[in-house]
Amino acid sequence: MTIAHWHDDYCTGDDRIDREHRSLFDMVNALHHALESSAPLLDIRDLLTTMAAHTVDHFRHEEALMQDHQYPGYARHKQVHDNLLAKVNSLINRLERDEAVLGSEVTACLTEWLAHHIRGEDQSMIRFLQAQNQPLLQSTRTP
Ligand SMILES: [Fe+2]
Repeated sequence: MTIAHWHDDYCTGDDRIDREHRSLFDMVNALHHALESSAPLLDIRDLLTTMAAHTVDHFRHEEALMQDHQYPGYARHKQVHDNLLAKVNSLINRLERDEAVLGSEVTACLTEWLAHHIRGEDQSMIRFLQAQNQPLLQSTRTP
């Protein structure tokens, strides 16, 4: 079952950011499918670790854009990113120590987080950058 459904109102106006968001949705769905089909724990851990790595790359991309354009909401936005990564890393650590059993509440929570964050912090950031009339969202850095 698909849990993370993409909607047009999640689009930010930046194709690369949108592609990264869609990839995260795909990864949440793959994790959800693995959980629902009682996949081996190692597979679940690998899916979660892969998703975490992509999330780190994506957050670095957004954070570089914000810094390059002196986005005033940078500190708060980065804190929101850091908080999610801390939770995901804690989950991975607990899985590695066999202290956690993952259920679909994890993918439901990730889906809700993504939808809320994209429609909140991310779209606000992109609106700010577009209002500055910068060449659309080309960071000078390579994340
Ligand atoms: Fe973000």
